[in-house]
Amino acid sequence: MSDTVVYEIQDRIAWVSFNRPEKRNCMSPVLNRKMMRVLDELEYHDDVGVFVLTGEGTAWSAGMDLKEYFRETEKKGLGAVRKSQREAYGWFRRLRWYQKPTIAMVNGWCFGGGYAPLFGCDLAIASEDAKFGLSEINWGILPGGGASKVISELVPMRDAMYHAMTGEPIDAKTAEKWRLINEAVPAAQLKKRVTEIATMLLDKNPVALKATKDAIRRVREMTYDNAEDYLVRAQEASNSFDNDGRKEGIRQFIDEKTYKPGLGAYDRAKHEA
Ligand code: ACO
Repeated sequence: MSDTVVYEIQDRIAWVSFNRPEKRNCMSPVLNRKMMRVLDELEYHDDVGVFVLTGEGTAWSAGMDLKEYFRETEKKGLGAVRKSQREAYGWFRRLRWYQKPTIAMVNGWCFGGGYAPLFGCDLAIASEDAKFGLSEINWGILPGGGASKVISELVPMRDAMYHAMTGEPIDAKTAEKWRLINEAVPAAQLKKRVTEIATMLLDKNPVALKATKDAIRRVREMTYDNAEDYLVRAQEASNSFDNDGRKEGIRQFIDEKTYKPGLGAYDRAKHEA
């Protein structure tokens, strides 16, 4: 299990990689269990401010492992199938509501079940040569494991329907146009661009960041009035929980006049010194 997911921490960024390049980083039950462990290890790690998910080799992830996740598990019966689903869906869900900001750095192939962690990450930046596909239809199942939900959430209905029904892969520029990802950049620029974004996030107030990313996901499914109410509560909760930083943010703008919130973040180092 030990090496199906690997990570290194540099300058408060955790670079986490699917690590089955010879199997195009498809997700086996073993990998799913390991990923949950890594998420556990890093979530409250003091040296980690941003979590980046990428893949070793030519793939980000070729989706679920057709042999180990489907065929071999199905042979063991329904109990085993449900257990494997719980393990996979468990870490996908964990990622969606992760404490730290998360970025998918999509370096290559991204198929089927890979759409769940893609959506689980707050932001997604891909290499221009990455390819995306809901290939389920090509081998005879519907896009489950969240994939149909992901494509319906992010992509207009006609494109989502075409994508899911034909199983035709799209390139990263099309994925960018459809808003399946934030940006497609040349392969040589991928790590630099992700580092730039991660560095920007590291400058922000971490309590406010977690509250903000949760709010954006939650309010999508609410009426305006429910969202307004939720945001009042969420703001009060994050203000009262370990977030004196916002007072410093106000002080540096109103009293000290050293920055403009419209143009950048307050200096956290001054507060924490
Ligand atoms: N499940 C199991 N094994 C896989 C998977 C997968 N999803 N993807 C790749 N592999 C294995 C191959 O069987 C092969 O194993 P082998 O070396 O033992 O023969 C190895 O990884 C390399 O794969 P190739 O096909 O040789 O790699 P190539 O670079 O030519 O192609 C590609 C890459 C396009 C990603 C291809 O491997 C592929 O189509 N994979 C399946 C993609 C897919 O449909 N995933 C399932 C989505 S549905 C879902 O997730 C629910």
